Amino acid sequence: MREPVLWLVMSTQEPEILCTQDEGVLEVCFNRPEKKNAFTEGMYETLAGSLREADASDEVRVVLLRGAGGTFTAGNDLGDFLASPPTGSDSAVFRFLFAITQIATPVVAAVQGAAVGIGTTMLQHVDLVYAAESTTFALPFVDLGLCPEAASSLLLPRQMGHARAAELLMLGKRFGPSVALDAGIVTSVVPDAEVDSVARAAARALAAKPPESLRLTKELMRRWDRDLIQRALREEGEAFVRQLQSPEAKAAFAAFAQRRSSSKGGR
Ligand code: COA
Repeated sequence: MREPVLWLVMSTQEPEILCTQDEGVLEVCFNRPEKKNAFTEGMYETLAGSLREADASDEVRVVLLRGAGGTFTAGNDLGDFLASPPTGSDSAVFRFLFAITQIATPVVAAVQGAAVGIGTTMLQHVDLVYAAESTTFALPFVDLGLCPEAASSLLLPRQMGHARAAELLMLGKRFGPSVALDAGIVTSVVPDAEVDSVARAAARALAAKPPESLRLTKELMRRWDRDLIQRALREEGEAFVRQLQSPEAKAAFAAFAQRRSSSKGGR
């Protein structure tokens, strides 16, 4: 068997995005477990670059996304939102969203623990999603003074109907993998201990298929809504950037930081 190729992408001192490639599968691991893999600007930058490079490479037939430490991702780092908020479509988060919504290479995800915000919405652009039984999905945009992103305002009501989507996007109700399965956001729900191996097996099975046919099939499945999704991304993005500057959002981020520091003070 070939030795796996391993490289680390350093966005700070720590390898917060860890990429390994073996047998045509590029495994991209969100590796910031002490912060529940919350995404910083640097991580988005690296992720966008990794997806673009994977798409241009003949060696990569499938991309597999997963998180380290039993968590998929807690979504955007809330401190980062305050320190360096995205300002437009050139910002790292939007480059990542354009990359994941446009990638022609098939993408598989292994999801467990928390999948918050973009940790849920990105899955609507992934081809095969395996969720562990313990996964908690959440879309707390309104509670954060924000609004939906990643075309979720378009896709979620279509997937589950307006009334059920409103409970998730407006009330911000957390939901489990059975709701996500029902809505077609996940492919199947598997025991926690098996989620990585099931996702890896699916990624390897895809990588063994005729690549041209596979990419063509994905392209055909995705093409009919592509323009609409890109329009939704842009329009939501403009609203999101405006909301980030709102007093509502600033108060919500400050409250999160305050909760963290008081819980530490109380220890
Ligand atoms: N941004 C920044 N830091 C985050 C974070 C985020 N989105 N999510 C978690 N963290 C940090 C916590 O501040 C904590 O760091 P600390 O120990 O230095 O204080 C660490 O990750 C562990 O988080 P904790 O809340 O103790 O873990 P938990 O298992 O109890 O809860 C979550 C996990 C994901 C449910 C919870 O952290 C959470 O709700 N995070 C915010 C999610 C969010 O609103 N994301 C933005 C979506 S747009």
